[in-house]
Amino acid sequence: MDIAIIGSGYVGLVTGACLADVRHNVICVDNDQRKVERLQKGVIPIYEPGLEEVVHRNVSANRLRFTTSTAEGVANSQIIFIAVPTPPQPDGSVDLTYIEKVAREIAEVLKEYRVIVDKSTVPVKTGEKVAETIRRYTKSAVEFDVVSNPEFLREGCAVSDLMNPDRIVIGSNSDRALALMKKVYEPFIAPIMVTDVNSAELIKHAANSFLALKISYINAISAICEASGADVERVADGIGADKRIGRSFLNAGIGYGGSCFPKDVAAFIAISEQLGAPFTLLREVQRVNQTQLDRFIKKIKDTLWVLKDKRIAVWGLTFKPDTDDVRNSVAIDLVTQLLKEGAIVRAYDPKGVEKVEELKLCHGAHLAKSAMEAVENAEALVLATEWGEFERVDLVQVRDRMHTPLIFDGRNLFDPKTMKELGFTYFGIGRADLH
Ligand code: UDX
Repeated sequence: MDIAIIGSGYVGLVTGACLADVRHNVICVDNDQRKVERLQKGVIPIYEPGLEEVVHRNVSANRLRFTTSTAEGVANSQIIFIAVPTPPQPDGSVDLTYIEKVAREIAEVLKEYRVIVDKSTVPVKTGEKVAETIRRYTKSAVEFDVVSNPEFLREGCAVSDLMNPDRIVIGSNSDRALALMKKVYEPFIAPIMVTDVNSAELIKHAANSFLALKISYINAISAICEASGADVERVADGIGADKRIGRSFLNAGIGYGGSCFPKDVAAFIAISEQLGAPFTLLREVQRVNQTQLDRFIKKIKDTLWVLKDKRIAVWGLTFKPDTDDVRNSVAIDLVTQLLKEGAIVRAYDPKGVEKVEELKLCHGAHLAKSAMEAVENAEALVLATEWGEFERVDLVQVRDRMHTPLIFDGRNLFDPKTMKELGFTYFGIGRADLH
């Protein structure tokens, strides 16, 4: 199949590269000329395990190319995926101006039948608007269909998620478009679920909100565990063993972040209210998520007493491990609050430092080059993101380098008993603090 992907961000680039890898011809379109030039030279703008290799392999095989021209993409493809950003607005609703702009651009150059696919996460009924816009702006009466095909990939394992999806959702009201979409996904071994356009759009928001709810659920339980002396890890194992519940996404911590969950929960609330069916449960999900960080910071303050001029090491800045993405990272919020209290922060992250500098975040924090450098002479260590590197670190050396070996484990990465045996004072989430 000949495919165009408009937008070369996380979703667009990974989708383009993976569709080329299953032997489709893919043109990635982006209006950022610098980004396109760099991609043409083989420079990948994001860190995503395996992506660089897939891009290089398919560029060499002439199945993947990059351009700034929407006209070129539309002229040479049967299917056009829209994968542009849908950023949040202050009231939580989604800014759809990029989607609308792309719809107009496609309309201007549409000459024969095309399938236009919404890949970006959008509120329900956006497909209807995209179709309406294209119809309004096409120069002549060209046939086209708008399809919703939400993407469920996670950052950090985007390539493998895209190549091995749990399911492929295709929302289409047209058999002609559906037949073409099925061809796109023929090489993938995954159940294809066909729905109408609105249901497909809703599936994405409902899935992400449910996962966020699961996290807030276990985080709320972690507060009860702390108040009662129970251990949230054992509780999560116990409830997660029930197949109807499942253990994944029941890891208590300092809350969820990233570019999807906070935004999608807020957007789902906004569209539900707009539709007159307010999803109030999700407001509580948001509240628990915020409270979780507040409670953690309170624990640090209660223990260290005065934060001003305290030397605090922070491990992890990205919103989760195996990514360089620091957008909406709870770890960044944490560092910002510690700095506001006057603490002297030395932070280390295996991959996120460059993006922190680029986005000018954590102003005033010292960005260390290694986990060991961060803990040198520190009066406390705060673990904010559970990178594998921290699990493998020599904890005896860490203890010896610290001024006072206190550890606040915001992701329950370490075993409290082992930490106590090693001589640390250990504080976790929803489990007994061990001195
Ligand atoms: C998420 C969805 O998983 C994915 O399907 C969708 O396409 C995009 O949004 P992503 O944001 O990449 O993916 O990361 P994910 O692994 O889901 O983690 C999101 C946040 O939740 C992170 O901050 C993570 O630390 C937190 N989290 C996750 C928890 O606090 N506890 C858990 O048990 C799982």
